[in-house]
Amino acid sequence: MLEIRKTSAENIRDVQRLWADGDVMRFVGFPEGLHKTDAEMADWLKWIESGRPLIEHYSIFEDGFYCGEAFYNIDTEHFGSCSLDIKLFAFARGRGIASKALSFTMKEAFKNGARSVWVDPDPANAKAIALYKRLGFKEKKRPEFLPLYEGFESAVYMEVARDDLLTTVFESERIRFVRLSELLLKDYLAMVNDMERVGSLIGRTEQISEEQELDWVLSKIEENGPIFSMIEKNTGDFIGNIEYMDAHKTEAELGIAITADKQDRGFGKEAITRFLDYGAGELGLGRVFLKAFRRNKRAIHVYEHCGFREYKGYAKELYMERFL
Ligand SMILES: CC(C)(COP(=O)(O)OP(=O)(O)OC[C@H]1O[C@@H](n2cnc3c(N)ncnc32)[C@H](O)[C@@H]1OP(=O)(O)O)[C@@H](O)C(=O)NCCC(=O)NCCS
Repeated sequence: MLEIRKTSAENIRDVQRLWADGDVMRFVGFPEGLHKTDAEMADWLKWIESGRPLIEHYSIFEDGFYCGEAFYNIDTEHFGSCSLDIKLFAFARGRGIASKALSFTMKEAFKNGARSVWVDPDPANAKAIALYKRLGFKEKKRPEFLPLYEGFESAVYMEVARDDLLTTVFESERIRFVRLSELLLKDYLAMVNDMERVGSLIGRTEQISEEQELDWVLSKIEENGPIFSMIEKNTGDFIGNIEYMDAHKTEAELGIAITADKQDRGFGKEAITRFLDYGAGELGLGRVFLKAFRRNKRAIHVYEHCGFREYKGYAKELYMERFL
């Protein structure tokens, strides 16, 4: 059984042993291995611990045997560019462990805010290059902001963007409507936990934890209903989520939330207009309704613009509908 654990003091000797192995380290410039003292290892672990979750180091075990390491480091100053690394002892290679561990590490990096992940293998390391290609990495020009260290000028820069892993279902002029994804977890959380500008307007009364949000995403993915995340085409930024809830044959309730930074830029109108077309064309909807708080003047303004009319009202909230 494969186990990938966040590295702790318990595993530090294993990491030290891995780095000291010349066979493991030859492609990163240490054919005799990299020999670190206990004190240096302890400092390194402190650096990892203080950088979480933007930095993470994993220890990989198969049936309890230490096999190697995986690592990511997200650079928030350069568009969420994130370096990835994996090293396995020779006995653990060629058995699919690297592929599983790397996929896991990529996913965790994206969930923690990475926008693209990169590796820069030695051109002679054909096995690593083949593995990266299988996982969707493509060779690209090395970005200017990444220094090229002496002796590594020929490294092959390869990258996968978060966007490449999101599945587009339909589009509007500026928006890609993609399937909900765990990779957008951080964006979802930031959106709903902004109580003033989003959370309270969609009926939330308290902050949501990462675990709760992950449960929600996984249950929605499982349901496979008409819910989509919206990605801005020209930046790759997350815009928000849009959904038809309780779709009963020809009727459904519309829900939309746009993240604070993307509000008031016309995305709401564009998204709802396109989503109504999708509802009529792909789902066969004839009536769409929704509920809004009366104090949510912006939402009501947008819904009216998109053809919704109030059909039931209370002091604090109202219901609106639109026939398609
Ligand atoms: C409501 C929401 C979906 C609208 O999307 P959006 O992208 O911000 O809206 P748009 O930029 O397309 O349009 C905003 C419109 O509202 C207007 N507006 C902004 N603030 C307003 C206010 N306080 N009162 C009235 N109109 C307002 C803008 O002027 C603009 O109208 P115009 O283009 O005619 O000038 C989005 O803001 C959102 O998700 N908010 C938080 C969650 C939420 O309220 N969800 C809906 C729950 S019912």
